[in-house]
Amino acid sequence: MKNILITGGAGFIGSHVVRLMVNKYPQYNIINMDALTYAGNLENLKDVELKQNYRFKKIDITDEKMVGRLFGTEKIDGVIHLAAESHVDRSINNPLEFIRTNIMGTVNLLNSARLAWKDNMEGKRFYHISTDEVYGSLGETGLFTETTSYDPRSPYSASKAGSDHLVRAYFHTFGLPVVISNCSNNYGTHQFPEKLIPLAINNIKNNKQVPIYGKGENIRDWLFVEDHASAIDTIFHKGETGETYNIGGNNEWKNIDLIYLLCNIMDKELGRPEGSSEKLITFVKDRAGHDQRYAIDPSKLVHELGWKPSLQFEEGLTKTVRWYLENQQWLNSIVSGAYEQYYDKQYGDR
Ligand code: NAD
Ligand code: DAU
Repeated sequence: MKNILITGGAGFIGSHVVRLMVNKYPQYNIINMDALTYAGNLENLKDVELKQNYRFKKIDITDEKMVGRLFGTEKIDGVIHLAAESHVDRSINNPLEFIRTNIMGTVNLLNSARLAWKDNMEGKRFYHISTDEVYGSLGETGLFTETTSYDPRSPYSASKAGSDHLVRAYFHTFGLPVVISNCSNNYGTHQFPEKLIPLAINNIKNNKQVPIYGKGENIRDWLFVEDHASAIDTIFHKGETGETYNIGGNNEWKNIDLIYLLCNIMDKELGRPEGSSEKLITFVKDRAGHDQRYAIDPSKLVHELGWKPSLQFEEGLTKTVRWYLENQQWLNSIVSGAYEQYYDKQYGDR
């Protein structure tokens, strides 16, 4: 029996990773540790919450005492660390919270693992989930590889870069058995509607304007969240200790083209006349320091570990739209109260 600690398991990607691990590995105890910030939602895990090999602990990753105790009582063998403040716009408004969780929280977990595993690191693994944003912004050509120099440009990406450096420092200095992956933009079910795709779905459904930063010419490389979860499973089990793997879908889209495609899918799914959703597109003030283009070269992961994405973009996007339309209650419970305040502050003066 292995005891696996997943941090941030109540969030978007974390909940997909928890679901995959709980269902695929009945021989593992999966402990989901999450502080349940605005982005954490236990509703995301309704289908696995009663499984025998799953447990939830409401703990902040920066809490030294609680995290240290958990490593001891649960006899943790492996960590999959996803907990983070994850939204670039929020990092522009409140950088300190990103430093606290993403840097201090990660170091606290590293310290706890090091202490708990100090007598025997055999069979242990600390897997840190990171982002392609640490590599900075690309021009028209080129791809991020695992050896691309770090050049983070937002408080979010700088805090993730800081955490990546610390994870590598614990490998080199203390011999902690770590592995890191850097993934491109995820989309799919259960994503908090502050991020582009679920925000646009929610707005189109409610006939609200769809805010596009700048001219909509920034480019992102999109991967279906379940494909990210399967890559995480592959790397957790087969990745080399001390190595980094880039994860991406070879699926670059200009924001405006993505939104046109989404509008088209929404028209079909809502039974509205073709072209009606597009009318909601509104160009607004650009994001400060907006990175122009991200694109990942995933060939190391594909060739060395045999992973590949399973879904085409249009298929994944249609699946995502259907989920949001069918899960109105999930969305409604989020888009009231604090979300409304956030939305007004973020978009009110744009
Ligand atoms: P999310 O914001 O949806 O979820 C984050 C989760 O972490 C939430 O459940 C939240 O409650 C929890 N959390 C936040 N602060 C915490 C703290 N101090 N202690 C304990 N729990 C805390 O994020 P996501 O989009 O699912 O991203 C998960 C991870 O994947 C992050 O590390 C992010 O940097 C990385 N990542 C995300 C993407 C993407 O496109 N979303 C792409 C690449 C990498
Ligand atoms: O690349 C991986 C990263 O992808 C992750 O590390 C982050 O956690 C995740 O949030 C995501 O970051 P982005 O900033 O790329 O995602 P977001 O959905 O916020 O924005 C996608 C693009 O759409 C970006 O170019 C900004 C633009 N955008 C976003 C919003 C919210 C708009 O034009 N309008 C919007 O309202």
